Amino acid sequence: MRQRQVIELSEIKRQEEICARIFERVTADGQRPLALVDTYGCQQNEADSEKLRGYLAEMGYGFTQDEFQADVIVVNTCAVREHAEMRVLGNVGALNHSKKARPGQIVAVCGCMVQQQHMAEKIKKSYPVVDLVFGPHELWRFPELLERVQTRHKRVFATEKSDGAVAEGIPLKRDGTVKAWLSVMYGCNNFCTYCIVPYVRGRERSRLPEDILAEARSLVAAGYKDITLLGQNVNSYGKDLACGVDFADLIRMVNDIPGDFRIRFMTSHPKDATEKLFRTMAACEKCCHQLHLPVQSGSDRILKAMNRSYDSEKYLRQVALARQYMPDLVLTTDIIVGFPGETEEDFEATLKLCETVRYDAMFTFIYSKRVGTPAASMPDPYTREEKQRHFDALTELSNRISGEKHAEYEGKTLRVLIDGETGREEYNLSSRTDGGRLVHLKGDPALIGTFADVTITASNTWALYGEIRNSEFGIRN
Ligand code: 5AD
Ligand code: SF4
Repeated sequence: MRQRQVIELSEIKRQEEICARIFERVTADGQRPLALVDTYGCQQNEADSEKLRGYLAEMGYGFTQDEFQADVIVVNTCAVREHAEMRVLGNVGALNHSKKARPGQIVAVCGCMVQQQHMAEKIKKSYPVVDLVFGPHELWRFPELLERVQTRHKRVFATEKSDGAVAEGIPLKRDGTVKAWLSVMYGCNNFCTYCIVPYVRGRERSRLPEDILAEARSLVAAGYKDITLLGQNVNSYGKDLACGVDFADLIRMVNDIPGDFRIRFMTSHPKDATEKLFRTMAACEKCCHQLHLPVQSGSDRILKAMNRSYDSEKYLRQVALARQYMPDLVLTTDIIVGFPGETEEDFEATLKLCETVRYDAMFTFIYSKRVGTPAASMPDPYTREEKQRHFDALTELSNRISGEKHAEYEGKTLRVLIDGETGREEYNLSSRTDGGRLVHLKGDPALIGTFADVTITASNTWALYGEIRNSEFGIRN
């Protein structure tokens, strides 16, 4: 087995020392400098941005959303689809204006997009506004890279190819106070033929159970009520550790932490979601009955071309098994439309599978060609218009089923976690059911961070609407 690469704690300590040096320098005039961290893409990136903010806070930076106020701008990018890359490039290009207005502003671009060498080159050549570029493997040494830019006044590029490592002890500045991301593993070994992730995020590597549990305990102690265990494919958790703890065991260990909180996780690969996982989800009272199980396609021919290692029959068996253990399971999925060579017949198979499964929600994407992946060189004779037509048909089906499923909640009373304000007067609070469905409520903002029983009074495709029956503080709406 490959040696699991670990960044020594002394290295992270060294980064913190650099943070302290930067602090001295940037706060020398008694002013608090400001930073802006802009995040694209998945939850893993959100979690990475919490580390960037953690480091920046140690360096003495406050935070702003206004690029004209920021002394440091960090754009944390995604490479999964071209659309996200185009948005990043457009927005980074526009930073010329803020940099002109604020000389000395430092612009950093990090994350998956720039781990692709052609993108790092493009930025080097065509985006002189960018001072610092670093890939996901270098995030742990962001302070060192930033200091280099600040003191040497030279552009820095750090996007070496790497299988990746595990770094513990990076300070975190979390976004919310109710819900928290908790990374349990990094990278992906699956090499689905359309996907860039294994090339930019490296090989699968798990954090040690004791490190995850320590973080989970501190989250619970800090009052977090909703913990999402994160990994590109959580079902592979522990395989690289050979310590006898698999993902189901990990759920049980987190479940055993005393306190009133919920556990969720994502993403699960259908090739290795096990009966043990479903049994554990059903048995652990804190684990939500929510499963994101990306099917990607309903056509066995396309699943094979995607290198997904399961067919529709195996997938449907898993769904049936999961529902046997959890009849109230909320099931969501990802689907790619227009994979190279996908025919009308293949697409019909996807529609049929979706009709059979009846997902609570579907995340649908039009295939996007990624440089260097096997699918990029597969014949792709179908036009953008044909793909769009399929995409629209799938969206319509998805919306119809979500609407029907949501309507089934009407009249029922469910426990929700109230997690924020909507900014709207009529339904001013947002909340989530155990299954993760969004419920809008009217009530006192003091209820944020508490559980309540609500009766669902109305619904549409995207959300439920409810009335608070009983909260932890009695009736208060
Ligand atoms: N094109 C379109 N969608 C993609 N995804 C991953 N790679 C691509 C691509 N090249 C989708 C998959 C995955 C989700 C996170 O993004 O559906 O599950
Ligand atoms: Fe990409 Fe497949 Fe890995 Fe998901 S499992 S990150 S789709 S390669």
